[in-house]
Amino acid sequence: MSKTKNIKIFDTTLRDGEQSPGASMNIDEKLRIAHLLEKLNVDVIEAGFPIASEGDFEAVKRVAKTIKGPQIAGLSRASNMDIDRAWEALKYAGERGRIHTFIATSDIHMKYKLKMSEAQVIETAVKAVKRAAGYTPNVEFSAEDAVRTRLPFLAQVVEAVIAAGARTVNIPDTVGYTIPSEYFNIIKYLKDNVPNIGQAILSVHCHNDLGLSVANSLAAIQAGAEQVECTINGIGERAGNCSLEEVVMALRTRQDIMPYTTNVVTEHIYAASKLLSTITGIVVQPNKAIVGANAFAHEAGIHQHGVMMEKSTYEIMTPESIGLNQNKLVLGKHSGRHAFLKRLEELGYELGKEDVEKAFVRFKTLADQKKEIYDEDLDAIVADEIIRVPEIYKLLQMNVSSGSFATPSATVELEVDGKVKKTAQMGDGPVDATFKAIKKLTGSQARLLHFSVGAITGGTDAQGECTVRLEHDGREVLGQGAHPDIIVASAKAYINALNKIATAPVRNEIHL
Ligand code: KIV
Ligand code: ZN
Repeated sequence: MSKTKNIKIFDTTLRDGEQSPGASMNIDEKLRIAHLLEKLNVDVIEAGFPIASEGDFEAVKRVAKTIKGPQIAGLSRASNMDIDRAWEALKYAGERGRIHTFIATSDIHMKYKLKMSEAQVIETAVKAVKRAAGYTPNVEFSAEDAVRTRLPFLAQVVEAVIAAGARTVNIPDTVGYTIPSEYFNIIKYLKDNVPNIGQAILSVHCHNDLGLSVANSLAAIQAGAEQVECTINGIGERAGNCSLEEVVMALRTRQDIMPYTTNVVTEHIYAASKLLSTITGIVVQPNKAIVGANAFAHEAGIHQHGVMMEKSTYEIMTPESIGLNQNKLVLGKHSGRHAFLKRLEELGYELGKEDVEKAFVRFKTLADQKKEIYDEDLDAIVADEIIRVPEIYKLLQMNVSSGSFATPSATVELEVDGKVKKTAQMGDGPVDATFKAIKKLTGSQARLLHFSVGAITGGTDAQGECTVRLEHDGREVLGQGAHPDIIVASAKAYINALNKIATAPVRNEIHL
């Protein structure tokens, strides 16, 4: 008989993850991520905060209607209005729909933010859980800032919400303040002191302000927590959330001392990480555990030698276990549709016939410009042609002139809302001139915060990849673009960011 305990993985990439600056996603982008989370086989997908905006509401509704395996959660404050709105979106998932309601319980939040007494907070929490339970038995309650809450009061809240019908109770480290031993003791205290604790699943939700979110989550599991809330690539509010890939792979790799399993199909981790960073423009740092570009690279000669003799000398997990196939098949201009399609499938892309055709045309054009096409080039093609679909603004043509004698100038032709528009502008450099032309054609008031260029692969014929960060009405967005010509890549990135501003949901002013 197996002695391992199954830990539920609650993914909040589409809710807490989306709270990262610049990470806002439109509905189609959220659906793409939700499909990959379904393939990853997470237990719960938190799809959004339905009261926050029309866009959030629609996204939760579409995810609830479309995704079949995992449960779908929607966040709500502890108020009737929020809970009713959340269920309105979640009801399409039937019994897989989960209302996740929360209120803060720490002294500091109760005094300064809520201006409520302990008794009022308990009463509000119980009322909210009862209201949610009127719609579905699948109710989760979170005690926001639980880690800084007086423990006897936290235990009282947990007992009361379980009695009111909460099936899952979450103990968040909202501000990323705790350390593993302290968090272990909090979870243990609740396990030992809440009489009805056996009637609910105890969940943890850690932020990464001190870089301890994964360690804290693991400590909580060892103390008896049964659900971990996390995000792909660890994105989230401020320093982010506990990273899904790190906590899942830690559990998988250290089965010898942590007898816990998850239902995650880890072979989809790498594809999920890549898709998220393509959609949001938030690049994964090279030394990031599990999914960083260097996570499986061995630089030192002595390490390379060891790995050649026996992989386990320096590798504690295999690249294949996260779906990273390092055996990069190189394609070239003579590669046919079949080889192209096969490689896309191996990289985790499931594209419709029309999308494959679009990507293949772009591949052929690139193969004429560049001798060898690597996996990274294919990723960039799919990202550019299919994932980062232009919605309102589309680059048709451009021409740039620059050099040490000429004043840099750019002529840009765009399709703006279905109409073709063209202008020429001068600038301090070719990128400046290009951005000025795009600004003129779109009438955008967005402020450029950051611009960077990199090469996707090695060699002077490599595609350039540009990232642009814009600020508009207090919101930040990231845009990306790839092309063998870096000025064209810059224009694409700028236009991608403008499309995001035009299509990302505008959020209501929510006071938590
Ligand atoms: O960090 C937090 O406390 C949260 C809750 C709303 C669960 O995200
Ligand atoms: Zn959070």
